[in-house]
Amino acid sequence: MQANDMKPLAPRDLPAIMRVQRASYRPSLIESPEAFLSKISSFPMGAWGHLSDGELAAYIVCVPGTCNDIYPLGSVTASLPDRPDHLYIHDLAVHPAHRGHGIADRLIHQAEAVAAELGHRRIALTSVQGSEQFWACHGFEHVRWLEYAPGEPAAYMVKTSEL
Ligand SMILES: CC(C)(COP(=O)(O)OP(=O)(O)OC[C@H]1O[C@@H](n2cnc3c(N)ncnc32)[C@H](O)[C@@H]1OP(=O)(O)O)[C@@H](O)C(=O)NCCC(=O)NCCS
Repeated sequence: MQANDMKPLAPRDLPAIMRVQRASYRPSLIESPEAFLSKISSFPMGAWGHLSDGELAAYIVCVPGTCNDIYPLGSVTASLPDRPDHLYIHDLAVHPAHRGHGIADRLIHQAEAVAAELGHRRIALTSVQGSEQFWACHGFEHVRWLEYAPGEPAAYMVKTSEL
């Protein structure tokens, strides 16, 4: 593996994931290591990191989804849906020191590859911190507003692709 590369995430990456998360989100949006671990462990093919000079600079964590359901912030995922109909991007974060270099773009393409491998045409997510425009630029459309955490407005967004 090269010093700047994509890699599948594993439980041992949790401290680095938490470091990127803490630098990327307001305190009300921070999730516990247990919440991350449950998603990475239950669906390893959906968790990818990007290394810069050997350090984790960014991550994306995806899980299978059904209907228009979201995975609530901070929830520990005990089981996955029996009949998923889309891929849900639970979290995407790039450390501030590494933004603006297309890393998020590469991670989103990785999520799209995972969705295609599973035969899902639909990818969904909950956009926070005013990132709707960013997601719209990647082809996601607004579906509904919600409050993701107290005082944290969010948008549920969906992208449907050709297979
Ligand atoms: C959003 C985020 C993942 C983008 O990461 P990145 O690696 O800088 O993204 P890329 O380099 O692939 O793309 C950068 C482009 O996105 C745009 N962009 C970044 N954040 C944006 C935002 N919140 N709203 C609109 N555009 C945004 C940049 O202006 C840039 O556009 P340009 O290429 O036309 O100059 C990163 O800013 C981040 O981690 N933010 C904090 C966590 C977060 O809010 N995640 C989204 C949760 S749903």
